[in-house]
Amino acid sequence: MASSPRIPEAGTAPRIAVRNLDMAFGSYVVQRNVSFTIPAGEIFVIMGDSGCGKSTMLRHMIGLIRPTRGDVFYDGESFWHGDDPGRRMAISRRFGVLFQSGALWSSMTLAENVALPLTLYTRLDAREVAEMVALKLALVGLRGFEEFYPSEISGGMRKRAGLARAMALDPDILFLDEPSAGLDPLSSRRLDDLILELRDNLGSTVVIVTHELASIFAIADNAVFLDAETRTAIAHGNPRDLIDHADSPKVRKFLRRGEAAPAAI
Ligand SMILES: Nc1ncnc2c1ncn2[C@@H]1O[C@H](COP(=O)(O)OP(=O)(O)OP(=O)(O)O)[C@@H](O)[C@H]1O
Ligand SMILES: [Mg+2]
Repeated sequence: MASSPRIPEAGTAPRIAVRNLDMAFGSYVVQRNVSFTIPAGEIFVIMGDSGCGKSTMLRHMIGLIRPTRGDVFYDGESFWHGDDPGRRMAISRRFGVLFQSGALWSSMTLAENVALPLTLYTRLDAREVAEMVALKLALVGLRGFEEFYPSEISGGMRKRAGLARAMALDPDILFLDEPSAGLDPLSSRRLDDLILELRDNLGSTVVIVTHELASIFAIADNAVFLDAETRTAIAHGNPRDLIDHADSPKVRKFLRRGEAAPAAI
């Protein structure tokens, strides 16, 4: 029977473990030797300057890009180096993903967008799909907008519809790439509250790429900082600790930038 390599502490394995990951496009190295772990139910933030490799990291974690070196483990099970290709598919069924672009289908209504993963991956009949869609849209505050097209709603509503679609299959693990980018502070705050609620109510583990400081401090249990210059992770921990205690001044500065009041005008 095919089996997958497991990390040594598999009995108490974290929900996600990224181990010694190298990411590269051809000879261009994006990040080297990145490791971090995420326990079940945690909200984990991937932060760093534009172009450091945050979205690329997510793509490695969800199975779109194979690492040059290293591996990602889910509950102790190897994602990339197991010898049963079907297992990777099975593990990725547990994921819900909101891409940086949002990427709702513009020719489909919100209901049709959210229904798509349900019709593709479940055996629910039409009535059950409709019920599930209504439930998910209600969860993100979009009850009554089922028949709207993405072009007919606001940017914040589109993000929330994207979140509803990412949650359609009740994923164990949600990957969200810049969910609040481009939103006004109030909408951004609502989205943060929603993410916290999802974690609390559904027990999902959430991996978020964001550079919004308010979000980072409001929702992150832990975070990793990917550095574009040295091309590796230079900080890992709770952002409230990192703001004062990160070894790297760059990370402390990144987390403090909201506090920098102009000394003189
Ligand atoms: N498919 C690809 N082929 C080649 N290079 C790529 C590809 N995707 C990303 N890159 C490069 O990898 C680096 C990291 O890109 P990535 O999109 O992961 O950055 P990011 O941290 O998400 O940035 P942002 O905050 O702007 O979204 C960039 O230099 C980018 O040009
Ligand atoms: Mg990105």
